[in-house]
Amino acid sequence: MAEQLIIQGETKQEHYEALLPQIKAVVEGESDLIANMANVASMLHETFGFWWTGFYRVEGEELVLGPFQGPMACTRIKKGRGVCGTAWQEAETQVVPDVDKFPGHIACSSASRSEIVVPVWKGKDIIAVLDIDSEKLNTFDDIDRQNLELIVRMLS
Ligand code: SME
Repeated sequence: MAEQLIIQGETKQEHYEALLPQIKAVVEGESDLIANMANVASMLHETFGFWWTGFYRVEGEELVLGPFQGPMACTRIKKGRGVCGTAWQEAETQVVPDVDKFPGHIACSSASRSEIVVPVWKGKDIIAVLDIDSEKLNTFDDIDRQNLELIVRMLS
């Protein structure tokens, strides 16, 4: 496993292209899901300087806080609630340009202005979601969605 994250490139897509093989190398060598979620959260957080980067794991009818980087967060989210619970219920990535305009958004932190939540699949089941929050509006787009969907696929 690489000892240090190497962040290269100018554009967001170039940053993801540099990051993807490094994440692959890290998760390929480890079978523990929590350990891999922890490193993925760290690598994304360090590369992009997001406000909050982490996972919620599916436990029965709730999402429970998993490995993350950033300020402390809500620990449990019910299915269909907030952006995370909606991504789980709809089984689809949610890109939210302005959290104040998302009905039912759960404000773990008032600093969060935009958000992306990506389901983590294992076979036909969603086992977790990756949640990333930004302090700025309109941070996330299709480039993030595509690359983050590739990244979470490496976890299962
Ligand atoms: N805002 C999220 C809750 C999780 S925190 O932002 C870390 C939501 O609406 O699901």
